[in-house]
Amino acid sequence: MADRAGAVSPRPNARTIRTRKRSAGAEPLVMLTAYDQPSASIVSAAGVDLLLVGDSVGDNVLGFDDTLHVTIEDMEHHVAAVARAKPDCLIVGDLPWMSYHVSVEQAVTNAARLIRAGAGCVKLEGGRKRVPAIEAIVNAEIPVMGHIGLTPQSVHAMGGMRVQGREVDAATALIADATAIAAAGCFAIVIEGVPDAVGSAVTKAVDVPTIGIGAGPGCDGQVLVFHDVLGLGTKRVAKFVRQYANLAEDATKALTAFASDVRSGAFPTEAESYESSEELRQAIGSDGTAR
Ligand code: KIV
Repeated sequence: MADRAGAVSPRPNARTIRTRKRSAGAEPLVMLTAYDQPSASIVSAAGVDLLLVGDSVGDNVLGFDDTLHVTIEDMEHHVAAVARAKPDCLIVGDLPWMSYHVSVEQAVTNAARLIRAGAGCVKLEGGRKRVPAIEAIVNAEIPVMGHIGLTPQSVHAMGGMRVQGREVDAATALIADATAIAAAGCFAIVIEGVPDAVGSAVTKAVDVPTIGIGAGPGCDGQVLVFHDVLGLGTKRVAKFVRQYANLAEDATKALTAFASDVRSGAFPTEAESYESSEELRQAIGSDGTAR
Protein backbone atom coordinates (compact mmCIF):
# COMPACT_ATOMS: atom_id res chain seq x y z
CA MET A 1 0.00 0.00 0.00
CA ALA A 2 1.50 3.40 -1.00
CA ASP A 3 1.18 6.57 1.08
CA ARG A 4 0.75 10.08 -0.38
CA ALA A 5 4.49 10.36 -0.99
CA GLY A 6 4.40 7.04 -2.87
CA ALA A 7 6.27 5.10 -0.17
CA VAL A 8 5.13 1.49 0.09
CA SER A 9 4.02 0.44 3.57
CA PRO A 10 3.31 -3.11 4.72
CA ARG A 11 -0.23 -4.49 4.50
CA PRO A 12 -2.26 -3.39 7.56
CA ASN A 13 -2.98 -6.00 10.20
CA ALA A 14 -4.96 -5.98 13.46
CA ARG A 15 -1.90 -4.84 15.45
CA THR A 16 -1.14 -1.88 13.17
CA ILE A 17 -4.83 -0.92 12.94
CA ARG A 18 -5.00 -0.99 16.76
CA THR A 19 -2.45 1.89 16.86
CA ARG A 20 -4.50 4.10 14.49
CA LYS A 21 -6.36 6.05 17.17
CA ARG A 22 -6.85 9.55 15.78
CA SER A 23 -5.83 11.17 19.04
CA ALA A 24 -2.40 9.66 18.28
CA GLY A 25 -2.31 11.87 15.15
CA ALA A 26 -3.25 9.09 12.74
CA GLU A 27 -5.30 9.64 9.56
CA PRO A 28 -8.88 8.32 9.76
CA LEU A 29 -9.20 4.64 8.93
CA VAL A 30 -11.05 3.69 5.76
CA MET A 31 -13.06 0.47 5.53
CA LEU A 32 -15.33 -0.74 2.72
CA THR A 33 -17.25 -3.95 2.25
CA ALA A 34 -16.65 -6.35 -0.63
CA TYR A 35 -18.03 -9.81 -1.20
CA ASP A 36 -16.17 -11.39 -4.12
CA GLN A 37 -12.90 -11.33 -6.05
CA PRO A 38 -13.65 -8.46 -8.48
CA SER A 39 -15.09 -6.15 -5.81
CA ALA A 40 -12.17 -6.96 -3.49
CA SER A 41 -9.67 -6.08 -6.25
CA ILE A 42 -11.43 -2.74 -6.81
CA VAL A 43 -11.53 -1.95 -3.08
CA SER A 44 -7.85 -2.85 -2.73
CA ALA A 45 -6.89 -0.68 -5.71
CA ALA A 46 -8.69 2.24 -3.99
CA GLY A 47 -6.15 1.98 -1.16
CA VAL A 48 -8.44 1.28 1.79
CA ASP A 49 -7.12 0.04 5.15
CA LEU A 50 -9.72 -2.62 5.87
CA LEU A 51 -12.01 -4.73 3.71
CA LEU A 52 -15.07 -6.07 5.51
CA VAL A 53 -16.66 -9.20 4.09
CA GLY A 54 -19.88 -8.23 5.84
CA ASP A 55 -22.94 -10.32 6.51
CA SER A 56 -24.54 -7.47 4.55
CA VAL A 57 -23.80 -9.85 1.66
CA GLY A 58 -27.29 -11.11 2.60
CA ASP A 59 -29.18 -7.97 1.61
CA ASN A 60 -26.73 -6.62 -0.98
CA VAL A 61 -25.88 -9.72 -2.99
CA LEU A 62 -27.99 -12.72 -1.97
CA GLY A 63 -31.38 -11.01 -2.23
CA PHE A 64 -32.51 -11.35 1.40
CA ASP A 65 -34.30 -8.51 3.21
CA ASP A 66 -31.94 -8.70 6.19
CA THR A 67 -28.69 -10.33 7.35
CA LEU A 68 -30.33 -13.06 9.42
CA HIS A 69 -30.39 -15.69 6.68
CA VAL A 70 -26.64 -15.58 6.14
CA THR A 71 -24.85 -18.70 7.39
CA ILE A 72 -21.25 -19.42 8.36
CA GLU A 73 -20.98 -21.45 5.13
CA ASP A 74 -22.05 -18.37 3.11
CA MET A 75 -19.46 -16.27 4.92
CA GLU A 76 -16.69 -18.83 4.36
CA HIS A 77 -17.54 -18.88 0.65
CA HIS A 78 -17.41 -15.08 0.30
CA VAL A 79 -14.33 -14.61 2.52
CA ALA A 80 -12.48 -17.18 0.40
CA ALA A 81 -13.51 -15.41 -2.84
CA VAL A 82 -12.30 -12.05 -1.45
CA ALA A 83 -9.04 -13.59 -0.20
CA ARG A 84 -8.27 -14.91 -3.72
CA ALA A 85 -7.96 -11.25 -4.81
CA LYS A 86 -5.05 -10.91 -2.33
CA PRO A 87 -6.20 -7.40 -1.37
CA ASP A 88 -3.62 -5.04 0.08
CA CYS A 89 -5.63 -4.44 3.25
CA LEU A 90 -6.86 -6.29 6.33
CA ILE A 91 -9.70 -8.70 5.53
CA VAL A 92 -12.37 -8.66 8.26
CA GLY A 93 -14.62 -11.75 8.23
CA ASP A 94 -18.08 -11.05 9.68
CA LEU A 95 -19.48 -13.72 11.98
CA PRO A 96 -23.15 -14.15 11.01
CA TRP A 97 -26.12 -14.37 13.33
CA MET A 98 -26.23 -17.56 15.43
CA SER A 99 -22.60 -18.43 14.69
CA TYR A 100 -21.31 -17.15 18.08
CA HIS A 101 -24.39 -16.91 20.32
CA VAL A 102 -24.75 -20.51 21.51
CA SER A 103 -21.43 -21.12 23.31
CA VAL A 104 -17.87 -19.80 23.41
CA GLU A 105 -16.74 -23.07 21.75
CA GLN A 106 -19.09 -22.36 18.84
CA ALA A 107 -17.75 -18.78 18.62
CA VAL A 108 -14.11 -19.92 18.49
CA THR A 109 -14.79 -22.72 16.00
CA ASN A 110 -16.64 -20.41 13.62
CA ALA A 111 -14.07 -17.61 13.96
CA ALA A 112 -11.41 -20.17 12.99
CA ARG A 113 -13.43 -21.15 9.90
CA LEU A 114 -13.31 -17.55 8.63
CA ILE A 115 -9.59 -17.27 9.39
CA ARG A 116 -8.93 -20.51 7.47
CA ALA A 117 -11.00 -19.10 4.59
CA GLY A 118 -8.60 -16.12 4.41
CA ALA A 119 -9.72 -13.44 6.90
CA GLY A 120 -7.13 -11.69 9.09
CA CYS A 121 -9.62 -11.08 11.91
CA VAL A 122 -13.34 -11.48 12.64
CA LYS A 123 -16.13 -9.06 13.56
CA LEU A 124 -19.11 -9.74 15.80
CA GLU A 125 -22.07 -7.68 16.98
CA GLY A 126 -23.06 -6.79 20.52
CA GLY A 127 -21.86 -5.22 23.76
CA ARG A 128 -21.29 -6.53 27.28
CA LYS A 129 -23.10 -9.83 26.73
CA ARG A 130 -20.55 -10.73 24.02
CA VAL A 131 -17.55 -10.39 26.35
CA PRO A 132 -17.14 -14.19 26.95
CA ALA A 133 -17.17 -14.89 23.19
CA ILE A 134 -14.71 -12.06 22.48
CA GLU A 135 -12.33 -13.23 25.21
CA ALA A 136 -12.46 -16.83 23.98
CA ILE A 137 -11.77 -15.87 20.35
CA VAL A 138 -8.93 -13.52 21.36
CA ASN A 139 -7.50 -16.32 23.54
CA ALA A 140 -7.45 -18.48 20.42
CA GLU A 141 -5.12 -15.82 18.88
CA ILE A 142 -7.79 -14.45 16.56
CA PRO A 143 -8.19 -10.65 16.52
CA VAL A 144 -11.77 -9.45 17.05
CA MET A 145 -13.48 -6.26 15.86
CA GLY A 146 -16.59 -5.28 17.84
CA HIS A 147 -19.79 -3.75 16.46
CA ILE A 148 -22.25 -1.79 18.61
CA GLY A 149 -25.17 0.62 18.19
CA LEU A 150 -27.57 -0.28 15.39
CA THR A 151 -26.61 -3.94 15.06
CA PRO A 152 -28.55 -5.42 12.12
CA GLN A 153 -28.49 -8.95 13.59
CA SER A 154 -30.69 -7.57 16.43
CA VAL A 155 -33.29 -6.15 14.03
CA HIS A 156 -36.20 -7.92 15.74
CA ALA A 157 -35.02 -7.15 19.29
CA MET A 158 -34.55 -3.47 18.34
CA GLY A 159 -38.05 -3.35 16.79
CA GLY A 160 -36.62 -2.45 13.37
CA MET A 161 -33.54 -0.76 11.94
CA ARG A 162 -33.68 2.28 14.24
CA VAL A 163 -31.05 4.77 15.35
CA GLN A 164 -29.74 3.70 18.78
CA GLY A 165 -28.55 5.72 21.79
CA ARG A 166 -30.89 8.68 21.34
CA GLU A 167 -31.74 8.81 25.05
CA VAL A 168 -29.15 9.52 27.76
CA ASP A 169 -29.57 6.07 29.38
CA ALA A 170 -29.17 4.30 26.06
CA ALA A 171 -26.12 6.41 25.16
CA THR A 172 -24.54 5.66 28.54
CA ALA A 173 -25.21 1.95 28.01
CA LEU A 174 -23.47 2.11 24.63
CA ILE A 175 -20.40 3.71 26.21
CA ALA A 176 -20.36 0.94 28.83
CA ASP A 177 -20.68 -1.67 26.03
CA ALA A 178 -17.77 -0.14 24.14
CA THR A 179 -15.46 -0.01 27.16
CA ALA A 180 -16.36 -3.62 28.09
CA ILE A 181 -15.63 -5.06 24.65
CA ALA A 182 -12.43 -3.02 24.32
CA ALA A 183 -11.31 -4.39 27.71
CA ALA A 184 -12.24 -7.90 26.52
CA GLY A 185 -9.70 -7.51 23.71
CA CYS A 186 -11.38 -5.97 20.63
CA PHE A 187 -8.71 -4.21 18.55
CA ALA A 188 -11.28 -1.86 16.93
CA ILE A 189 -15.01 -1.19 17.21
CA VAL A 190 -17.63 -0.40 14.55
CA ILE A 191 -20.30 2.03 15.79
CA GLU A 192 -23.40 2.06 13.63
CA GLY A 193 -26.50 4.28 13.55
CA VAL A 194 -26.08 6.55 16.59
CA PRO A 195 -26.27 10.35 17.04
CA ASP A 196 -22.95 12.05 16.27
CA ALA A 197 -22.39 13.05 19.92
CA VAL A 198 -22.64 9.37 20.91
CA GLY A 199 -20.14 8.39 18.18
CA SER A 200 -17.71 10.96 19.56
CA ALA A 201 -18.32 10.02 23.21
CA VAL A 202 -17.73 6.30 22.53
CA THR A 203 -14.58 7.20 20.57
CA LYS A 204 -13.25 9.22 23.51
CA ALA A 205 -14.15 6.48 25.99
CA VAL A 206 -12.08 3.69 24.41
CA ASP A 207 -8.40 3.44 23.56
CA VAL A 208 -8.98 1.37 20.41
CA PRO A 209 -10.02 2.91 17.07
CA THR A 210 -13.72 3.30 16.35
CA ILE A 211 -15.04 2.98 12.81
CA GLY A 212 -18.33 4.74 12.26
CA ILE A 213 -21.22 4.10 9.91
CA GLY A 214 -23.92 6.66 10.53
CA ALA A 215 -22.12 7.69 13.74
CA GLY A 216 -20.86 11.15 12.72
CA PRO A 217 -17.41 12.55 11.98
CA GLY A 218 -15.96 12.06 15.48
CA CYS A 219 -15.00 8.41 14.97
CA ASP A 220 -11.46 7.22 14.19
CA GLY A 221 -12.54 5.92 10.79
CA GLN A 222 -15.51 5.40 8.51
CA VAL A 223 -17.02 2.38 6.75
CA LEU A 224 -19.62 2.15 4.00
CA VAL A 225 -21.10 -0.66 1.93
CA PHE A 226 -19.63 -1.17 -1.59
CA HIS A 227 -23.03 -1.22 -3.31
CA ASP A 228 -24.16 1.98 -1.53
CA VAL A 229 -21.02 3.98 -2.40
CA LEU A 230 -21.17 2.93 -6.04
CA GLY A 231 -24.93 3.19 -6.52
CA LEU A 232 -25.20 -0.50 -7.34
CA GLY A 233 -27.95 -1.33 -4.91
CA THR A 234 -31.61 -1.90 -5.56
CA LYS A 235 -32.92 -0.57 -2.24
CA ARG A 236 -33.23 2.92 -0.74
CA VAL A 237 -29.97 4.01 0.90
CA ALA A 238 -29.72 5.32 4.46
CA LYS A 239 -29.22 9.01 5.31
CA PHE A 240 -25.55 8.44 6.21
CA VAL A 241 -24.58 7.07 2.78
CA ARG A 242 -22.68 9.24 0.32
CA GLN A 243 -23.08 7.78 -3.17
CA TYR A 244 -20.05 8.48 -5.40
CA ALA A 245 -21.33 6.87 -8.61
CA ASN A 246 -24.51 5.46 -10.11
CA LEU A 247 -23.22 2.20 -11.53
CA ALA A 248 -26.67 0.58 -11.61
CA GLU A 249 -27.84 3.28 -14.02
CA ASP A 250 -24.61 3.08 -16.08
CA ALA A 251 -24.85 -0.72 -16.20
CA THR A 252 -28.50 -0.67 -17.28
CA LYS A 253 -27.66 1.79 -20.09
CA ALA A 254 -24.72 -0.36 -21.25
CA LEU A 255 -26.73 -3.60 -21.22
CA THR A 256 -29.68 -1.97 -23.01
CA ALA A 257 -27.26 -0.81 -25.74
CA PHE A 258 -25.88 -4.39 -26.01
CA ALA A 259 -29.38 -5.85 -26.34
CA SER A 260 -30.26 -3.30 -29.00
CA ASP A 261 -27.04 -3.99 -30.98
CA VAL A 262 -27.70 -7.75 -30.92
CA ARG A 263 -31.29 -7.27 -32.08
CA SER A 264 -30.34 -4.87 -34.87
CA GLY A 265 -27.44 -7.03 -36.06
CA ALA A 266 -24.88 -4.32 -35.18
CA PHE A 267 -23.11 -6.79 -32.87
CA PRO A 268 -20.87 -8.62 -33.54
CA THR A 269 -18.90 -7.05 -36.40
CA GLU A 270 -16.12 -8.73 -38.37
CA ALA A 271 -13.59 -7.14 -35.98
CA GLU A 272 -15.34 -8.91 -33.10
CA SER A 273 -15.26 -12.31 -34.89
CA TYR A 274 -12.49 -14.85 -35.56
CA GLU A 275 -11.36 -14.80 -39.19
CA SER A 276 -11.97 -17.74 -41.50
CA SER A 277 -9.38 -18.75 -44.10
CA GLU A 278 -10.43 -18.79 -47.74
CA GLU A 279 -9.92 -22.57 -47.74
CA LEU A 280 -12.29 -22.94 -44.78
CA ARG A 281 -14.86 -20.70 -46.45
CA GLN A 282 -14.65 -22.71 -49.66
CA ALA A 283 -14.95 -26.00 -47.81
CA ILE A 284 -17.92 -25.19 -45.60
CA GLY A 285 -19.65 -22.35 -47.43
CA SER A 286 -20.35 -18.98 -45.88
CA ASP A 287 -23.65 -20.18 -44.43
CA GLY A 288 -21.89 -22.94 -42.47
CA THR A 289 -23.34 -25.76 -44.55
CA ALA A 290 -20.58 -28.22 -45.47
CA ARG A 291 -20.27 -28.72 -49.24
O1 KIV B 1 -22.09 -6.31 7.31
C1 KIV B 1 -21.77 -5.12 7.18
O2 KIV B 1 -21.70 -4.58 6.06
C2 KIV B 1 -21.48 -4.35 8.37
C3 KIV B 1 -21.22 -2.89 8.20
C4 KIV B 1 -22.50 -2.18 8.06
C5 KIV B 1 -20.39 -2.34 9.29
O3 KIV B 1 -21.48 -4.88 9.44
